[in-house]
Amino acid sequence: MHQDFKLVVNGRRRRTRTDADRPLLDVLREDFELTGTKYGCGEGVCGACTVLLDGVPTRSCITSVGEVGTDPIQTIEGLANNAELHKVQLALLVHEAMQCGYCVPGHIMTAVALSRDKPNATRKEIANEMSEHICRCCNYSSILSAVEQAVATDRKQERDEP
Ligand code: FES
Repeated sequence: MHQDFKLVVNGRRRRTRTDADRPLLDVLREDFELTGTKYGCGEGVCGACTVLLDGVPTRSCITSVGEVGTDPIQTIEGLANNAELHKVQLALLVHEAMQCGYCVPGHIMTAVALSRDKPNATRKEIANEMSEHICRCCNYSSILSAVEQAVATDRKQERDEP
């Protein structure tokens, strides 16, 4: 049975009328045309569909729209501040960490939360956190270096603050 849903996506109120069991991923891509979030496995394994739900990396393919409630959703489209890319996005560019690019939005969303929550994470800890994401081009080394740089940027900013 269809219901009305009011969601907050990238700081903007959005409405849709749909089945409560429908995956959040489908609502984002099909109803709101936010196609940066990708469909990979559809089973919560690959990480391609990761968005931030109330700041927490969440697999949108196995999260129903009915579960979201009032929690704010952030997708890859909501990261850049006007023309200014997020530091994780910039780091991936610097490290040429994108090959086909399909998995990248999911990697980035997890890395954004990681760089925010664990500014002192070691490379090993970062690798562990990012290990839940699959890259079919196997570009793991460059992605890891990019995320490490983004995390270190936060660390440096903390040191420089008075
Ligand atoms: Fe959601 Fe793979 S598409 S985890």
